[in-house]
Amino acid sequence: MSSKRLHGVFTLLMLMVFNVSGAFVGITIGNDMSNMPPATDIVSILKAKKTQHVRLLDSDHQMLTALANTGIEVMVGVPNDQLLRVGQSRSTAADWINKNVAAYTPATNITYIAVGNEVLTTIPNAALVLVPALQFLQSALLAANLNTQVKISSPHSMDVISKAFPPSAATFNSTWSSIMSQYLEFLKNTGSSFMLNAQPYYGYVGGQGVFPLEYALFRSLNPNSQISDPNTNLFYTNMFDAIIDATYNSIQAMNFTGIPVLVTASGWPWRGGPSEKAATVDNALAYNTNLIHHVLNNSGTPSQPNNQSSTYIFELFNEDNRSGPVSEQNWGIMFPNATTIYSLSFEDVATTIPESPALRGVFCVANSSAPHSALKHSLDWACGPGSANCSAIQPGQPCYASDDIVAVSSYAFNDYYHRTQSSGGTCNFNGTAMITSTDPSHGSCIFAGSTGASGSKGGTASGPASPDSFASKSQSCWLIHLVATLLPILFVVM
Ligand SMILES: *[C@@H]1O[C@H](CO)[C@@H](O)[C@H](O)[C@H]1NC(C)=O
Ligand SMILES: *[C@@H]1O[C@H](CO)[C@@H](O)[C@H](O)[C@H]1NC(C)=O
Ligand SMILES: *[C@@H]1O[C@H](CO)[C@@H](O)[C@H](O)[C@H]1NC(C)=O
Ligand SMILES: *[C@@H]1O[C@H](CO)[C@@H](O)[C@H](O)[C@H]1NC(C)=O
Ligand SMILES: *[C@@H]1O[C@H](CO)[C@@H](O)[C@H](O)[C@H]1NC(C)=O
Ligand SMILES: *[C@@H]1O[C@H](CO)[C@@H](O)[C@H](O)[C@H]1NC(C)=O
Ligand SMILES: *[C@@H]1O[C@H](CO)[C@@H](O)[C@H](O)[C@H]1NC(C)=O
Ligand SMILES: *[C@@H]1O[C@H](CO)[C@@H](O)[C@H](O)[C@H]1NC(C)=O
Ligand SMILES: *[C@@H]1O[C@H](CO)[C@@H](O)[C@H](O)[C@H]1NC(C)=O
Ligand SMILES: *[C@@H]1O[C@H](CO)[C@@H](O)[C@H](O)[C@H]1NC(C)=O
Repeated sequence: MSSKRLHGVFTLLMLMVFNVSGAFVGITIGNDMSNMPPATDIVSILKAKKTQHVRLLDSDHQMLTALANTGIEVMVGVPNDQLLRVGQSRSTAADWINKNVAAYTPATNITYIAVGNEVLTTIPNAALVLVPALQFLQSALLAANLNTQVKISSPHSMDVISKAFPPSAATFNSTWSSIMSQYLEFLKNTGSSFMLNAQPYYGYVGGQGVFPLEYALFRSLNPNSQISDPNTNLFYTNMFDAIIDATYNSIQAMNFTGIPVLVTASGWPWRGGPSEKAATVDNALAYNTNLIHHVLNNSGTPSQPNNQSSTYIFELFNEDNRSGPVSEQNWGIMFPNATTIYSLSFEDVATTIPESPALRGVFCVANSSAPHSALKHSLDWACGPGSANCSAIQPGQPCYASDDIVAVSSYAFNDYYHRTQSSGGTCNFNGTAMITSTDPSHGSCIFAGSTGASGSKGGTASGPASPDSFASKSQSCWLIHLVATLLPILFVVM
C-alpha cells in the first residue's frame, strides 16, 4: 500500500476525543525540525483533529499563547538541557514556573509538567538532580497556588525496567533503586503519575524476530496461542499491555501502590532505512489505529483491569533534525508543512459505512497472477488497518480456505471495497486486485454485492488452488504462528 493510496482512502478526520468515562488519547509535538510551523497553524491542526490533550516537549511561548482559551489541556516539558540548572537551584526552578507556567495559566490549561525526558537512561550524569528538580518545581507551584491544577513527573524509557518479561516478575534496574524510590515517593505524595514512554516498536525490533509483529501491532492473536504470564496465568494479546503491567509490577516491587502509569509517548515510525523493515506506513497506521481503539476502550491491562493508561501518540510532526537511524526522523503522522502522511480515525470503517447499492453485481477480487507474497501483504492490510470484516474467512467459517490465498484475499478485498467505495475506497491493493462481474460466492460463502444468483464456483476470483507449500503462509494473516513452544523464549528476552 503506498502512502499516496492510503492518503486517498481515508477522508475521515482523526478525532482525538476525550472519553468521558476514563482514559484519553493526546498527541506529542516535538521541536527537532528544520521548519517548525507557526504556532497558530499548529493549534488549527489540533482543533481540526478535535485533540483535547497535547504534550509539548518544551514550553514554547508562542505555542502556550496560541493554546490559550482553546480548552486543550497542555503538558509542558523541562528539556534535558535545562534540567541541571533547575535541579541545582531553588530560585531557578521558581523562575521557570513563573515564566513558563504561571504566566500562561489559567487561559492556557497547563495540567502537567514533564521534567526532563528519559533522564536516567540518556543523561545519567544528571540523575542525581532529578528528584531535587521535581521538589523545587513543586514548591514553586505551591507558592504560585497552582499545585492542585498542575501535576509534576518525569518520563522514563522502558529501559529502566531490566527484565520486563514475564510482567509479573519485572523490576526496575537496581542501578537506580535509590533515585527510583525517591521519585515514587514524590509521585505518591503529590498524587502524580509514573510517566512512561511505551514503545513496542523498540521491543519488537530489539526482540529480533522473537516477538511476532502482530503482537506488537495489537492484531488479535489466535485465542489458543496468546502469551501467558506463567506466574499469574494472565493472557497478553499485545506488547503495549505487557509493558504497562511490567511497569506496575516494578513499582509494586519497590513497595509502592496506587500510582497510575501515564504513557507520555507511544507510536510507530512509518519510514526507515534498508535494515528497518518494520518501519512502514501500513504498520504505523495499524499500530496507532489499534492503540487509539485500545486506550479509548478503557478496558485496562490484564493485571489492572480498572486502570487504563491515558496515552500521548508519538507524534504529530516528523522531526527531520533528530539524530539516529532513518526511522527516528519518521514517527510523525504529518510533515511540518501540514501534508498528511497517513490519516488516523477513531471511526470503525466496518461499522459506520453501509454497503453501497450501486455495487450490486460488482466484485473486487484478487488477481490470481499477482505474487502470493504481495497478496498476503494486501490481505493483512485489508483485515487490519483496512477494517474489512474478515470473520467469514476464519477457520470454521464459510469462506475459510487454508490453502487458497487468492480466494481468501478476494473475500477480504471485496468486503473492503463494498464498505469504503462510497467514501473513496478503491479496488487496487497495490495492483493485486481487480474488478469483475463474476460472482465468486459459493455455497454459504456469500460475497458482498452478490445478487443471490447462483455463485460461480471456480470463477475468476477463486483461481487455481495454490500449491500446498503455500498453505502455512496464507494462514499467517490471522493465525499467528505463535505456538506454545515459543512462549518460554519470549520470557527470557528483554
Ligand atoms: C507495491 O508493489 C511493489 C511491486 O509490485 C512493491 O515493490 C512495493 O513494496 C509494494 N508496496 C507496498 C506498500 O506493499
Ligand atoms: C536542523 O538541521 C540543520 C542542518 O543540520 C541545521 O542547519 C538547523 O539549524 C537545524 N534546525 C534546528 C531547529 O535545530
Ligand atoms: C483544565 O483541565 C481540567 C482537567 O480536565 C479541567 O478540570 C479544568 O476545568 C480545565 N480548566 C480550564 C480553565 O479550562
Ligand atoms: C542496569 O543499568 C546499568 C546502567 O545503565 C547497565 O549497565 C546494566 O546493564 C543494566 N542492567 C540490566 C540488567 O539491564
Ligand atoms: C518491600 O517490603 C518487603 C516486606 O516488608 C521487604 O522485604 C522488601 O525489602 C521491600 N522492598 C523494597 C525495595 O523496599
Ligand atoms: C486501579 O483501580 C483500583 C480501583 O479499581 C484502585 O483501587 C487502584 O488504586 C488503581 N491503581 C492504580 C495504580 O491507580
Ligand atoms: C473492549 O475490549 C473488550 C475486552 O478486550 C472487548 O470485549 C470489547 O469488545 C471491546 N469494546 C470495544 C467497543 O471495542
Ligand atoms: C511537504 O513536505 C514533504 C516532505 O518534505 C514534501 O515531500 C511535500 O512535497 C511537501 N508538500 C507541500 C505541499 O509542500
Ligand atoms: C494481473 O496481474 C498480472 C501480473 O501482475 C498483470 O499482468 C495483469 O495485468 C493483471 N490483471 C489485471 C486485470 O489487473
Ligand atoms: C462480520 O461478518 C459476519 C458474517 O461473516 C457477521 O456475522 C458479522 O455481524 C459481521 N460484523 C460486522 C461488524 O459487520
